[in-house]
This record gives sequence, structure tokens and C-alpha cells, in this order.
Amino acid sequence: MQQAKIGRLLVVGVGLIGGSFALALKAARACREVIGVTSGRNTCDEAKRLGIVDRASVCLEEVLPQLEPGDLVFVAVPTLAVESVFVQLKRYLPAGVTVTDGASVKGSVVRAAEAVWGGVPSFLVPGHPIAGSERSGVTAARDDLYRDHRIILTPLEDTGVDHLRRVEQVWQAVGAEVLKMPVEEHDEVLAATSHLPHVIAFSLVDTLAHDAENENIFRYAAGGFRDFTRIASSDPVMWRDIMLANREAILKAIDLYSLNLSSLRGAIAAGDSGALMGVFTRAKAARDYFTKMLAKQAYSDSMQAQEITFIAQPANAVNGKLRVPGDKSMSHRSIMLGSLAEGVTEVEGFLEGEDALATLQAFRDMGVVIEGPDNGRVVIHGVGLRGLKAPSGPLYLGNSGTSMRLLAGLLAGQRFDVTLTGDESLSKRPMNRVANPLRDMGANIETGPEGRPPLIIKGGSPMKGLHYPLPMASAQVKSAVLLAGLYAEGRTSTVEPAPTRDHTERMLQGFGYAVSRDGPEAALDGNGALKSCRIDVPADISSAAFFMVAASISPGSDIVLEHVGINPTRDGVINILRAMGGDIELLNTREVGGEPVADIRVRYAPLRGIRIPEEQVPLAIDEFPALFVAAACAQGETVLTGAEELRVKESDRIQAMADGMVALGVTARATADGIVIQGAEAARVFAGGTVDSLGDHRIAMAFAVASLRAKDTIRILHCANVATSFPNFAELATGVGLKLQLA
Ligand code: S3P
Repeated sequence: MQQAKIGRLLVVGVGLIGGSFALALKAARACREVIGVTSGRNTCDEAKRLGIVDRASVCLEEVLPQLEPGDLVFVAVPTLAVESVFVQLKRYLPAGVTVTDGASVKGSVVRAAEAVWGGVPSFLVPGHPIAGSERSGVTAARDDLYRDHRIILTPLEDTGVDHLRRVEQVWQAVGAEVLKMPVEEHDEVLAATSHLPHVIAFSLVDTLAHDAENENIFRYAAGGFRDFTRIASSDPVMWRDIMLANREAILKAIDLYSLNLSSLRGAIAAGDSGALMGVFTRAKAARDYFTKMLAKQAYSDSMQAQEITFIAQPANAVNGKLRVPGDKSMSHRSIMLGSLAEGVTEVEGFLEGEDALATLQAFRDMGVVIEGPDNGRVVIHGVGLRGLKAPSGPLYLGNSGTSMRLLAGLLAGQRFDVTLTGDESLSKRPMNRVANPLRDMGANIETGPEGRPPLIIKGGSPMKGLHYPLPMASAQVKSAVLLAGLYAEGRTSTVEPAPTRDHTERMLQGFGYAVSRDGPEAALDGNGALKSCRIDVPADISSAAFFMVAASISPGSDIVLEHVGINPTRDGVINILRAMGGDIELLNTREVGGEPVADIRVRYAPLRGIRIPEEQVPLAIDEFPALFVAAACAQGETVLTGAEELRVKESDRIQAMADGMVALGVTARATADGIVIQGAEAARVFAGGTVDSLGDHRIAMAFAVASLRAKDTIRILHCANVATSFPNFAELATGVGLKLQLA
């Protein structure tokens, strides 16, 4: 039997909330006895009959003196009745007893305590379980109402530490997650997420039910009406009390909603289909995201950010045909240029990974109507070069460096202010490489310490063209400057020290914007216009690279990767693998929407170590984690130099790979600008063990591929970010022969 957390539980008000708490505590054996106090004898009898309480009374002052230190009182009466319970507690509650409550409004509970005690006593821990049902009363009580639900406690300065701990432990004992929040914040959040929806549901049903012309309305109402209005059958007294107790915050929420509703009315009246699509696509995206969050919660025990570990068991070969998801770089750019174009742009093959979705969401937040993504199809209703609107808050770009750097360029010349933020990894990445040239063009940009995010961009700065020789081979920097050039007076040009991916230049041309290109130089004039177009995004060679390496290192492999972009600024992985002896065939080479595409057939071939030509580095910049795995399986030494950029990717990829390889028994040595890897010819090159991907998607996938030549299971930590570029990696990988499980 689990150790009791408290002595006795006294539940004041045995309805859905109080009764469920009593049942849950009994089920968890977390208390010795449950006493119920209700206002009517019938409820007392019912609560006893249902086994919710051990004994019950209608007289609080009679029961209170029986309590002892270590006991708990749970006040679960309608919000406005809390004060009258406090009056009794003041007179009869013995010292050492803890009191908590379940009212949906915390400000009114604090005010009630102040009225009764002249302040909030240390034994009172205000709380609110975020759980409920449209059913009410003692018969609605269930022992699992709070399991996997959140409980918000709003302790005050004087709340006793022991009392707080006791309440926390009791909620945890019934399977709930405890959060803490200030009282005002709780009431504002709940006004928006719970109280406003109840106002709307009650009012909608009341409106329809009392409209004489709609007499038969319920006969014709289907699922939508039923789902939407379910909460209108909640307890009227409880909800009347909540409305009165949280009046100010609810009025604010209603006003905001009324404003939005009346602008929607205006759009309908004016036949403004763009505005309607704007509201509906934004709302759909938000609801879909919420649905996904709920689904994740349903299968993950903890409700914290999801942690994924790859468990990769030794396997032998990969075989089959597969199409990996769309190119990440092109997916970002399709949203950006499609949004700035005049007219409707249709995209096929869009990568539905978190990075590209972060870009998509950013443009929605700036007022662009974007339909989808739906199976890789996205429809963007362009707003023209000057049509973006100020977002209502910072644009959060997750893990995506490309989003932040390209957006910095594109937003530098807008008339509004904007702040760009990202996750922990992105917040460590250098941004002065884009901020500096943009400042030279006239932009007003502030960064965090040491040039890291957030980026705060002040709008309204006049931009002028710039001739910018890039200090490093970076397509992101080149693109940021060229995109800022769209808004600049005169000509903007970039000169790169080595060829880098040219999707920005190609796609701008596809949108009818003149870009002149002369060797390492790309140039454009500001203030032109983009015309909408169709974009077919090929499969991403950076994602295909994992399977190219997988097939190259495992005897018996033969794989075809379909419809892969083989732009010559991206094909370093093909050149390097071929130089190592890889057997790679390009089939059915063709051009799709201005980009070269092929099916890539890769068969196993023994590899040899090489000195990687430095001019290949920018052409394979994202593929090195996979290539290092190939090098470990090659005969002899592989030496990479001139690749210091790898140290500032989503992780320090040189160090992360060197550490992981050494942990798996490979001889690898990180250098300042590269790595030296001693290949081994053994059938099983990698020992089993645990490696840390450091939340870097490409490190995670590279070590998963290594399992094809591993002696034992490789556990790869922190793999959730694989979803940034390759959400169905595990599924495709197991489909062709890897033995990969997620934990
Ligand atoms: C990208 C450019 C590269 C690459 C990144 C995507 C782009 O970054 O590593 O994954 O889409 O422009 P750098 O420009 O920093 O080399």
C-alpha cells in the first residue's frame, strides 16, 4: 500500500470537482479518511452510497473541530460561495490543517480570504484543476478526472512551504501535473481559454434556442453544433459565479473577440474572400497545432517537451526505392518569395518539417494567407513586396537558422518593427554575419550579446544598395543581402569566395525578378516586382545523403532515391562519395522548374579514404555528418580541412561527430577546421554505445546510418529535432532495412 500523503481529507462541496478529488485520493490511497460536507442530506447519502466519502455532514462547523494537523480541506463550492466557507474556517479550523480550493477564479478567492482574515493565511494554497466536464453534481464524480491533467497553484508570498508541498504532493499522487503561476496571470489566461469559450457557447445556444424562426434548429444541427456547444450544458450557478468573479479579465477577452467577430462580419458583408481565407487558414493552422500537442500529450507520460532517443540495432543492407521529403532550402524560399509576389503561388513537394513550417507560420503572422500544407501542397496568396503587416508579437523561428537569417534580410527594409527569436540552439548561433552587411545597407538591427539572437529589427530605415564581398562561403548571408536588396535604392551585389547554393537567385528569376549572375557575383536592382508562379520542390539531397551513405557502406545494398534535386551547388556529396569509390548513378536527369533533378541509384562499393578537396566543402556543407560515417567505413584515412563553418551549425558538428565516433570506437580527431578519420575495413566498424546528437538533426540521422556497420545497438540521444528537416526519417529508414526504434 502506498504511504498516505495526508491524514484526513475534508471535501466541502461534493460535486464533480470535489467528489472526483475524493475518489482520486481514495483510489491512490493517499488519505486515511474522507469526510464530505454538502448542503443537502440527499447529496450526503448519495456521496456515501457511491463510496465517494466515508462519512458526510451538512454542518461544516460540526466537522471542522474534528480535524488534526496534517489533514487537508478541499473547498469545492461555487466560486462566490467560497467566502462563506472561509468564515466558518476562521472560527473552527484547528491549527496545522492545510486548506486548498478548486475555484476557477483565483483573484476572487484571494479577495475572499482578505475579507475574512485580513490577508491570505499561510495555510491556504489557492489552486485550480484544469479539468472538468459539462456534467455536474455528485453523480458525475470520477476517480480519473485529474489524471494527466494540469493543476495550477497560485501560492502567495506568505503561503507556508509545508502547506504548499502537501497540496502539491496530493495532486501528484492522483496523477496530475502541478504548475505554479501568479494569481493575475492565472485569471487572465483562464478568461481567454476557458471563460470566453463558455460565454460564447452559452450565448450561441441561447440565441438559437430563442429565435422563433429557428424553432426546429436542434433537429437539423449536426456534429459541428454538438461539439461546439457541448460546454453550454455546464453548471449554470458555477458559471454565473465565474463570470462575476473574473469580470474584468472576461470583459477584456469578450471585447477582443467582439472586435474580431465584427471584422469577420465586415469581411463577409464585403465579400472579402482574402480576409476570410486569412482568418480561416490561420485558425485552422493553430487548431491543427493544438490537436498535435494534445496527441503528443496522450502518448507521452510527461507533458514536458518531447524527448526522443533513437535505438539503432545492427542491420545489414538497404534496398528499395524511396522519395525523401522536399528540399528545405527551396521550401523556405518558396514561402518567402510566394508571399512577396503578386498573385497566387502554388507549391508542390513542400517540406512539412518544423524548420520550413516556422517560416510559413512567420508569414501567416505577417498577414499572408497560406493554404495548407496538405501533402506537400501549399497555396500562397502573395501580398506584393510592400504588403506584409506587422506581426502582433515576436516571430519564433524554432531551430531554423535559414529562417532567421533570410528573414533578417527581407524584414530589414519593412516599415514595421519585428523581433526574431528561436530555440536554445538557434539562440547560440552567430547573427552578425547578416546583421553587419544589413546595417551597412541602412538597416537598424540589434542583436543579443555577442551577436546572438534575438534580432530586433526597427522598421522604416531607408535601405541603399551595397556591393558585398562575402567573408565566408554562406548562402544564407548571400541570400539575406540579396533579399534586403529587393527593398534597397539602387543595385545590390554579392561576391562569394566559393560557390554556395543558388536557390535564391534561381527562384527570384522564376518569380520574374531580374538577377544578373557573373561567376561569383550576383546582383539585382531594388524595388521591382515578383510575379506569382508554380514551384515544384524536388526531394532534398541533404536528406537523400543519409541513404546514399547507407547504401555505400553496407554490402548487398541497392537503392534508388527518386526525384532528388542535384543542383551543382549542392552535389558535393555525390562528388565526394564518388571520389571515395562510391557507386552512384544519376538516372533520368531532367530539369524541373529551373532546378536539375534526377533519380539517384546507389549500390554498395568498398570505399577508400581521401583528402576532401576544399572546393567541395560548401557544396556538401550539410552532408558532412553522413560523410564522416562513410569515412569511418573506408579503407585508410580521410582528411577534411577548410570546414570551420561546421562548428557553427545547429551544433558544433565537427566536435559532436568526433565525440560520437570516438565513443563508438572509431579513431577520429577534430581539428580547428575539419577532422581526420581513420577508416576501418572490418565488417563491423562501430562498437555499440550511446552518443549524444546534441539536438542536431543531422548528427542524429548520421549515427542511425552508422548502425548498418555496428557490432551492437547504438543509442542516440536528443533526436526530436530530426523533425525539423526529415519528419518521416525513421519510417523511411526502417522501410529500406535499418533497424531503428524510437524511445
Ligand atoms: C542554407 C545554407 C547553408 C546550409 C543551411 C541551409 C540555405 O548555411 O548549411 O542548412 O538554405 O541557404 P550557410 O549559409 O550558413 O552555409
